Amino acid sequence: MTRPDPHSFRDDTQPVVEHLSWDVRVDFGTRVLDAAADLRLRSAGAGPRGPRAPGLLDLDTRDLTIVSVTADGADAAFELGPADPVMGARLRIALPAAAAAVRIRYRTAPRSTALQWCTPEQTADGTHPFLYSQCQTIHARSMLPVQDTPAVRFSYDATLRVPAGLTALMSASALSAPDAGPGERGFRFAQRQAIPAYLLALAAGRLDGRETGPRSTVWAEPSQLAAAAWEFAEVEQILATAESLFGPYAWGRADLLVLPPSYPYGGMENPQLIFLTPTLIAGDRSLVTVVAHEIAHAWTGNLVTAASLDHFWVNEGFTIFAERAITTRMTGPDLTELRAAVGRADLETDLRYLAGQPELTRLRLDLRGIDPDVASSHVALEKGYLFLRAIAESAGAERFLGFLRDYLAAFRFRSVTGEEVVAFARERLPGAVDYDEWLYGTGLPPGAPAVSSPLLDAVLAIGQAAPGPDVAAAWSADEWQVYLAALRPPVPAGLLAELDRRYQLTASANPEILRLWLTAALNSGYPAAVPAAVDLLGRMGRLKFLRPLYDALAQNPDTRLLARECFERNRGRYHPIAVTVISTRLSQAGA
Ligand code: BES
Ligand code: ZN
Repeated sequence: MTRPDPHSFRDDTQPVVEHLSWDVRVDFGTRVLDAAADLRLRSAGAGPRGPRAPGLLDLDTRDLTIVSVTADGADAAFELGPADPVMGARLRIALPAAAAAVRIRYRTAPRSTALQWCTPEQTADGTHPFLYSQCQTIHARSMLPVQDTPAVRFSYDATLRVPAGLTALMSASALSAPDAGPGERGFRFAQRQAIPAYLLALAAGRLDGRETGPRSTVWAEPSQLAAAAWEFAEVEQILATAESLFGPYAWGRADLLVLPPSYPYGGMENPQLIFLTPTLIAGDRSLVTVVAHEIAHAWTGNLVTAASLDHFWVNEGFTIFAERAITTRMTGPDLTELRAAVGRADLETDLRYLAGQPELTRLRLDLRGIDPDVASSHVALEKGYLFLRAIAESAGAERFLGFLRDYLAAFRFRSVTGEEVVAFARERLPGAVDYDEWLYGTGLPPGAPAVSSPLLDAVLAIGQAAPGPDVAAAWSADEWQVYLAALRPPVPAGLLAELDRRYQLTASANPEILRLWLTAALNSGYPAAVPAAVDLLGRMGRLKFLRPLYDALAQNPDTRLLARECFERNRGRYHPIAVTVISTRLSQAGA
């Protein structure tokens, strides 16, 4: 094996990092983390800690300036390899015999791919700068030298020093504050559970918190706090429902953090501190399924973790399934089926986009040499979900829930491959589905579960016509999404104009409705959608919205140039991950 993860230099014959002590000064002036990482090591493989021969330790880095390396307190020789465009650079450290710890002093680069340094103008309140990280998929290495593979787990403690006036948060428990120099404020954190590097997370900004339950606080910029606390007030109910399904919550607190509008994802399952896009604050709690999703990751993903991004569905497919099990318990199957139908439509959009790269439509991927952010699609989420749903429908819901609990118990705090998951399922639920077809096949298997419910079928029956005013007046945001996702471009201009005039879709305050409407309208050549899309692309940086809107603009020769112009104008405001993903897609579309 030696290097089992295609996106990491970690060598599995070398010692593993079991604990990180991180000391960081956050410098907004130079956009640099000035830091020291102490890595406590354990010999490879299980078994007692014996004497160890001299050896090597290969770590992942990206754009780091290494200042010094010591092993057990003495200077250690190190070598920083050439930078690979996807992986970054290998930091190879020569370890003396029996070395138990290394200390690396280093600085990050202003272009660190994990970090976005927001100016005050890029925040909700516009008064203070804001820094946040996004380490999934392979960006922890641009924040610190680390074995940046989900096959390695470590606990951590951290000291962060930030400018006075800012609050720092991490994916960990807050401890009492350390001393800080003039003009600075210090924060200390500890994560006692062993986590993969991609779950490291930090944020620093002008933040206030409000308790919404016995184990949850919502954090946001002051102007957004009240709205966020109302929107996300159901955390405790979600946690309790998840616990009734999957067993005790293993992480203590479940705080939420609302990020600036450039946050590239809907949500991110950072332990003890879920990151959320502010676009979820719709004023009607219609988008809290994202919170249920990130909470579900506390079991599927954070307890049982995909061993590498080749098995990403093990995180995301299980979590979509768990999310929908939670919302089914909380609000019934009807609403959940509507969301599954939107998910299915998103999957089909991505399958069409990936028609020329069918290998990316497999659950089991081979991403050697491929940027996992660029390859990421709804396949891991929604095909993964359909796989599990197919097993559940064949085995029966109760038996499948029992299987899920056994799976979580068997693999907790471990990393697994899709092959291991399937072997476990095959043994307990033999013959439930064609496991190999699901794991290795491209596209969707012919017998994939059909999403259906009375509510859903009523919406779909309208098809390519406009809903009547009485029908539409009774629709929830989810029904609108189902309807819009089912429109097949090119939609006649008359129908689009009628929909827009009657239901003011271009002015929708719900970003999910807006993205589906604008995508359908752009793909049908509806001119009013162009300025609205350009406006949305300048207001937020969530990839789920950027991807289809830029794709639609770039695919149409009339707006191709505009797509590029819009991107160049906004790229300085997007997170580095979004910049890479969108610029790659635009180039592929010839824009
Ligand atoms: N872990 C993902 C976010 C992610 C995906 C980060 C791919 C890096 C690469 C998160 O749990 C997620 O799935 N977010 C979704 C929303 C969810 C409700 C499906 C998103 O960002 O849209
Ligand atoms: Zn997820």
